[in-house]
Amino acid sequence: MARKFFVGGNWKCNGTVAEVNKIVNVLNDADVPSADVVEVVVSPPFVFLPQVKATLRSDFAVSAQNSWVKKGGAYTGEVSAEMLVNLEIPWVILGHSERRSLLKESNEFVSDKVAYALSQGLKVIACIGESLAQREAGETMTVVSEQTRAIADKITDWTNVVLAYEPVWAIGTGKVATPAQAQEVHASLRTWLASNVSSGVAESVRIIYGGSVNGANCRELAAQPDVDGFLVGGASLKPEFVDIIRSAS
Ligand code: G3P
Repeated sequence: MARKFFVGGNWKCNGTVAEVNKIVNVLNDADVPSADVVEVVVSPPFVFLPQVKATLRSDFAVSAQNSWVKKGGAYTGEVSAEMLVNLEIPWVILGHSERRSLLKESNEFVSDKVAYALSQGLKVIACIGESLAQREAGETMTVVSEQTRAIADKITDWTNVVLAYEPVWAIGTGKVATPAQAQEVHASLRTWLASNVSSGVAESVRIIYGGSVNGANCRELAAQPDVDGFLVGGASLKPEFVDIIRSAS
């Protein structure tokens, strides 16, 4: 089956009201393939979600960069899945490696967050990926299958899940995975899903790549059979994000 190409822009902890307006204006003016060809989701910091939601073109969607693990309440500083639903924000990024390392989010915690977000009706970009040390030790597939297993143990419906393979050693470093490296892990993840979840899920779930994607390297990566799109950090704040969206065509 054809999997619709998916391009996410993770703005991380960046932006001012004026800068967000500028980025949204560039995106709104962009000539890109139709929504039948590519699904575009941009993820600003929480504080800009209403602004982006109100001004972004209707064929692009908005995502949060995190959501709390259970119903809201006495959890100072957290943002609940219900709040995102209330704001009509359809997507959320969960398990990003920066949260796994800086905030010590475990596989268990991430998978609980994924399950809860889905239970509230959100669609989830679930991030996995190995460190340089783990790759150099030949542990890549062990690590990413453990991360995926934790999610698979908590959910039954993958319809609203996009899996983002983001090798930690490629994030923000300019050291993008080669097309062969990305394809190898994506194909192995799809095989893992077929063996451990179902052939239907393996065939339908989008597995997207993240880690130093830019306007120059996106097309070669996009040409790989098991690369179904991207989760873009730094380049999503620049006009070249439009070139990355166009790599879907
Ligand atoms: O979530 C996407 C991000 O981790 C990739 O960052 O700057 O390497 O594209 P960057």
